[in-house]
Amino acid sequence: MSNNTLNYRNAVILAPMVRIGTLPMRMLSLDYGADIVYGEELIDHKMLQCTRTVNELLGTIDFVQEDGSVVFRTCEKEANQVVFQMGTSDAARSLKVAKLVENDVAAIDINMGCPKEFSIKGGMGAALLSQPDKVRQILTTLVENVRKPVTCKIRLCPTLEETLHFCHLVESCGVAAVAIHGRRKEERPRHANHNDIIREIAHQISIPVIANGGSMDISSNADVERFRSETGCSSVMLARSAQWNASIFRKDGILPTNDVIRAYLKYAVDYDNTYENSKYCIQQILHEQLQTSLGFSFKATKSMADICQLWDMEGYLRDVTAARKQMETSLKRLHAASEA
Ligand code: FNR
Repeated sequence: MSNNTLNYRNAVILAPMVRIGTLPMRMLSLDYGADIVYGEELIDHKMLQCTRTVNELLGTIDFVQEDGSVVFRTCEKEANQVVFQMGTSDAARSLKVAKLVENDVAAIDINMGCPKEFSIKGGMGAALLSQPDKVRQILTTLVENVRKPVTCKIRLCPTLEETLHFCHLVESCGVAAVAIHGRRKEERPRHANHNDIIREIAHQISIPVIANGGSMDISSNADVERFRSETGCSSVMLARSAQWNASIFRKDGILPTNDVIRAYLKYAVDYDNTYENSKYCIQQILHEQLQTSLGFSFKATKSMADICQLWDMEGYLRDVTAARKQMETSLKRLHAASEA
């Protein structure tokens, strides 16, 4: 059933990142030239507690828990480029979640690389690398029943042969592409990424391989192209280099962090992103400047208004908030009239 409309070749992709990959960062990355943007990993159990809601006020589709908290927010503008990444260990559960989101996203990705204890204990993430039967079940169930491309993101297995074997397995399940983070489960971000192994795999399998893990050596567009050619992949996926400065996706060169923060804040305000999540994302952008006076002022902020003020955006926040209040009143009137 799976249809492969998303082009996984020659793409530069925003990697899935917990807390970072919320709507403002995805929209910003698309503006700067990313071809595909992954959302943060969301766990199947949590998604199954959510209801799909059309948010007329913001122009978004929200997946909301009973207590009102938004677990996943997306919008029409990214619908053809956003990939929903799921943490799962169960075919039936993953299908339920895929069905919940399939009309609002461009593709579904299964996380098979997360080495964190929470994932491994739950049989998710990198735990799946040693469970071929489960992987086959999950992927074939999704590929056969979901109307969007299905992919997975993996880490390296202990040997090249095992990694190749695993990639042949996922390929035979009908996935549209596989993203490979070139480190093993026990290797940390400071360890060198095994570009040579990614290259060998890309050479041996026929579905597109998306190279990942190169951020420590990527700070310009030329570095992105070097990573692409070193790994022999047509597509590359960036996590940390994009979280530090999303303008890494620009063909015309990277922008100063203050410009990126202002552009980020605009989306955070437009999409009513929470203060906590916005602060976390901006903190990663500021990472090298956290010890400067701007960094200290930033750390002291206690609200979205405080943050906006630091980048001369308080007027923008005020205008958007006022316009939203007005629209809320009009929508309430409209709904009351249609119910009368
Ligand atoms: C990650 N990574 C990650 N991977 C994944 O499959 N799902 C996720 O939700 C996350 N979350 C996440 C959060 C943060 C803050 C970081 C830094 C990383 C791993 C990430 O996608 C990528 O595989 C690695 O960071 C290696 O790529 P880079 O950083 O070298 O481009």
